[in-house]
Amino acid sequence: MCVSRAVLPLILRAMRYLDYAATTPVLPEVTDAMVAVLTGDFGNPSSVHAYGRAAREIVEDARDRVASAVGASPAEIVFTAGGTEADNLAIKGATRKLRGNGNHVITTAFEHHAVLDTVEWLGHDEFETTVLPVGPDGLVDPAAVAAAVRPSTILVSIMAVNNEIGTAQPLAEIARAVKGANPSTLVHTDAVQMLGNLPVNVHELGLDFAAFSAHKFGGPKGVGFLFARSHAPVEALLHGGGHEGGLRSGTLNVPGLAGLGVAAEIAAKEVDHKIERVGGLRTRLWQGIEDSIERVRLNGHPTERVPGTLNVSFEGADGETLLLLFDAAGIACSAGSACQSGAIDPSHVLLAIGVPREIAKGSVRFSLGRESTDEDVDAVLEVLPGIVESARRVG
Ligand SMILES: Cc1ncc(COP(=O)(O)O)c(C=O)c1O
Repeated sequence: MCVSRAVLPLILRAMRYLDYAATTPVLPEVTDAMVAVLTGDFGNPSSVHAYGRAAREIVEDARDRVASAVGASPAEIVFTAGGTEADNLAIKGATRKLRGNGNHVITTAFEHHAVLDTVEWLGHDEFETTVLPVGPDGLVDPAAVAAAVRPSTILVSIMAVNNEIGTAQPLAEIARAVKGANPSTLVHTDAVQMLGNLPVNVHELGLDFAAFSAHKFGGPKGVGFLFARSHAPVEALLHGGGHEGGLRSGTLNVPGLAGLGVAAEIAAKEVDHKIERVGGLRTRLWQGIEDSIERVRLNGHPTERVPGTLNVSFEGADGETLLLLFDAAGIACSAGSACQSGAIDPSHVLLAIGVPREIAKGSVRFSLGRESTDEDVDAVLEVLPGIVESARRVG
């Protein structure tokens, strides 16, 4: 075993985790549910015998829990291998099914790449795509969305909560505006950062599709689901044994789904408490940053946001340097979306809301969550002035 592998657990024990938007620790209740399945219920849920029936019960129990966490009916849940797959299924699946009815798709400039790249991919085919701009506060204007809808628009995909800046969109208004402009246009939202951070009711929001991912709310990685409104037109991307009502073939990840169900239920149950407690921590962190550092800006809307995510630009500092210095000081945070960490280019989200390139490069996302404490906030505020000063000297 190399030395770094040996000491890493010790380093991790001493660190403070402020990267909940990248992923969350698995809840103990989730681990228990998964271990029980891994050690006791190895059956294939498609088998007819008792082993299969036991596994099927676990899957359907997870479906019930997930459906009730988002205000859907169990038949409207399609299990996937995470948020990326759920986004792809909604966007590619719906447009494929409806391509005789139109060829126009709308999204926004600050979507996660799971949506942005999928829509761009459609554009290489026979589809016309509109990528709407986003306001400087990170909000999408429902009237601007409605104005972009055409008779040929078959799908609008606008994220519920931005993963980098935490801004929450007026989803119900957007869905209403879209349907008002063209009642047959479908509305999809990437809700990966929503469950556990805001109350979710997909029907009250007027959605046709919504994508979710377990690892963002205390569940395991590689498991998620798509809400597809009853009778919403969608075609399968994966073909095979016809699982999930023919929409997603492949033997189901039973332990993962057991974990997903428990995590979704807890996330929905605790959301109000989390908004209050974690929101308070985030406010204190931002006030501390504003009080101690000059030339800082908060990215995203000041109030229309999820409780834990705080994106801050430190003018004159380099984001990569800031991250490395925070890491060395025992604080795990992020320069933007996790998938882009390591890339030198400034975040497409910050550029989309009009943050100048040079300032965008000096941005850090702190994201707090269920296990975050006052001590985590204190730890950041204690090392922050020294770190920003050093990063500004470098760059
Ligand atoms: C907004 C958003 N959409 C989609 C994804 C992708 O989800 P998954 O990691 O489950 O594929 C993420 C993950 O970072 C995300 O934050």
